[in-house]
Amino acid sequence: MKISFYLNGKDTCVDVPADRKLVSVLREDLELTGTKEGCGAGECGACTILVDGHVRLSCLMTAAQAQGRRITTIEGLAENGKVHPVQEAFIENGAVQCGFCTPGMVLAAVDLLDRNPDPTREQIREGLSGNLCRCSGYVKIVDAVEAAAGKIGRGKSR
Ligand code: FES
Ligand code: FES
Repeated sequence: MKISFYLNGKDTCVDVPADRKLVSVLREDLELTGTKEGCGAGECGACTILVDGHVRLSCLMTAAQAQGRRITTIEGLAENGKVHPVQEAFIENGAVQCGFCTPGMVLAAVDLLDRNPDPTREQIREGLSGNLCRCSGYVKIVDAVEAAAGKIGRGKSR
């Protein structure tokens, strides 16, 4: 089945079985390996992408469900060669260890800050509760999202 969608700012078309998992289409057919596949069952958040601006788990979506949607993967966050403020804050706050959960965490944080630009630490924890990290105690990740909220806020007030 031919499936067309808008991926990271570009019109994209793939010819794949309609029921192929979207995470496999992204990673294998389109070579966007920033999206990770962990549990494959909707439990770890590693495969998080944004669909029409909202967090979705690409391991639970079929290719057909991407038809006509606006999809953003971690590869699509940087703009004009500059990393997104959330990515910058993850780096600056040492919130990346093995990095497996990081793309999903970053995208979940982008969605969270879009909905709530000034979240409390509790709201950040809750907003990222669908994303598991095997390496950290989450403290630095929460620090990073808090710092990103400050950066984005400052950017808006300029
Ligand atoms: S791989 Fe999709 S939620 Fe774990
Ligand atoms: S940094 Fe390793 S799983 Fe989160």
